[in-house]
Order: sequence, then structure tokens, then C-alpha cells
Amino acid sequence: TPADLSALITSGLRDVPDFPKEGVVFKDITPLLAEPASLRAVVEGIAGHYAQDSVDVVLGLEARGFILAAPVALELGAGFVPVRKAGKLPRETHRASYDLEYGSETVEMHADAVSSGSRVLIVDDVLATGGTGRAAVELVDKSGGTVVGFSVLVELGFLQGRSKLTDVEPHALAVI
Ligand code: PRP
Repeated sequence: TPADLSALITSGLRDVPDFPKEGVVFKDITPLLAEPASLRAVVEGIAGHYAQDSVDVVLGLEARGFILAAPVALELGAGFVPVRKAGKLPRETHRASYDLEYGSETVEMHADAVSSGSRVLIVDDVLATGGTGRAAVELVDKSGGTVVGFSVLVELGFLQGRSKLTDVEPHALAVI
């Protein structure tokens, strides 16, 4: 059940205080990924939520989003497209930027990776402030695709990232 899956995730996550910098509590998903039953459950949990949505493409957000997005794409019979940090993709790209506490971050997607009219599911590990998710939605909009969903393993509810993504109603397997 969704409640069992949520409990599995919250018990499998490891909190790491002051990483990558002081005051931030890092949510380490690697123990969950290392456990075969948990890995299968989270991939099936995301894919199952969108099984009826005719997804053409699953967008994975660098870097931890990649790990989940590719098996979700296989499960849905969809393709996989990476959204990368600036400067990593070799051909023409669409770009989107978002603000961080200090400065900003830019992400890119190949301009021809999503065709106009494609149905796109965005997948990441964690929804925190929502900046990365917002940028990914912008990239899909620029390509003329339709965002059918945004799904994460874990949502950090207290950061209210969801408020930046009201048009896509994020789906989270667990909210903490
Ligand atoms: C983390 C996480 C999400 C994003 C969420 O990625 O994996 O992609 O931050 O934060 P936001 O909702 O506040 O935008 P990070 O930038 O650490 O990249 P990495 O996965 O490459 O380490």
C-alpha cells in the first residue's frame, strides 16, 4: 500500500547533518537503492502512479534523478531523457535557471530530446525548494511537450517546494 511504501522510504533514508554544508540535513537515499526489494518498490511505486497516463518520455534530473528515471521509463515503455547541469550536454540545448540561496543554477536539456506534443513525466529523488522541478517544467514547455506529472521519492514538506509546482501537482512516495 502507499502507506507501507512511505514507511519503507522513511525508515530507509539516512539523515546526514551539515552536508553538503552547515545547517543542511542531507537525505541519503543510497541505503534504499542498495536494498533489492526497496529499489523495486520505489520504481514500481512511481511507475504505477502514471501507468494510465500514456507517458512517452521520462525526464531524469541530474544526478540522483537519473537512477530512478531510467527504470521507471522501462516500466512504462517510455524513453529516457536527461536534464543536466549546464555545460554537460554536447548539442544544442534549452536552458532554464533558478535561484539558490546564494547565486543561481542552470540546467539544460537537448533541444530535440522531447518532441512537440510528447507526454512527459519528470522524476527526481527529492523535492526540496522546488527550483529544480520548476526549471524542468520550463524545459518541457520550451520543447512543446506536455508535463503529465512530477514524481519524487521524498518531499521535504516544510520547504514548500510544492507551491512552485501547483500546475503539475507533484506526487511524492513519502513526505517528511
Ligand atoms: C538535489 C536533489 C534534487 C534537488 C532538489 O540535487 O537531487 O535534484 O536537489 O532541490 P530543490 O527542490 O531545492 O531544487 P543536487 O542539486 O544536490 O544534485 P545532485 O543530485 O547532482 O547531487
